[in-house]
Amino acid sequence: MPQPAHSQIRPYRSDDAPALSALYRRSVEVLGPRHYTPAQVAAWASLTPDPEAMHARCAGPGRAALVAVDAADRPVAFAVLESDGHIDLFYAAPEAAGSGTATALLCAVEGEARELGGAALHVEASEGARSLFLKRGFATVARRDFEVGNVAIHNYAMRKPS
Ligand SMILES: CC(C)(COP(=O)(O)OP(=O)(O)OC[C@H]1O[C@@H](n2cnc3c(N)ncnc32)[C@H](O)[C@@H]1OP(=O)(O)O)[C@@H](O)C(=O)NCCC(=O)NCCS
Repeated sequence: MPQPAHSQIRPYRSDDAPALSALYRRSVEVLGPRHYTPAQVAAWASLTPDPEAMHARCAGPGRAALVAVDAADRPVAFAVLESDGHIDLFYAAPEAAGSGTATALLCAVEGEARELGGAALHVEASEGARSLFLKRGFATVARRDFEVGNVAIHNYAMRKPS
């Protein structure tokens, strides 16, 4: 098995925001086409938070963000947890995909959720993320069909009991 692409998982710092914004877009544009059409990928990528919006998503009230970084402290994956157990963002860089980094990040998110009071974790998982969450004990609640711009796309509401 390949080694995970990260050397540690640490809390978000405000100077991570530009790198996380770029990581989000690269993740969607490179990994998204495995499961979504070019139009769907373009619509999804259009939702990329700019660095200022990314900072608010990561560090706003009731939010905790974890960042998996490589040996040079460059982010290779990140996740944002809200105090009600909602995983708002969960993205791995293409070079980290399939390395076990995202699985380790999800374990760390679960640990963080327990420390924050143990609310049941829930997420809107992309087609590509679904198997990762299933393997960690999440169950699919419903398929969600919606539009971004005028483009139809879908994901899955998933939940893990606390
Ligand atoms: C969703 C996403 C984070 C999942 O990442 P991932 O690459 O599947 O997750 P991991 O890095 O944990 O890799 C797991 C895979 O690597 C394998 N693997 C290889 N080496 C491993 C190791 N040392 N330890 C654990 N797993 C390892 C596992 O067997 C598993 O393979 P499988 O999926 O065929 O069973 C990533 O695909 C992504 O960012 N996608 C685009 C954005 C997105 O969809 N985000 C989710 C929004 S909810």
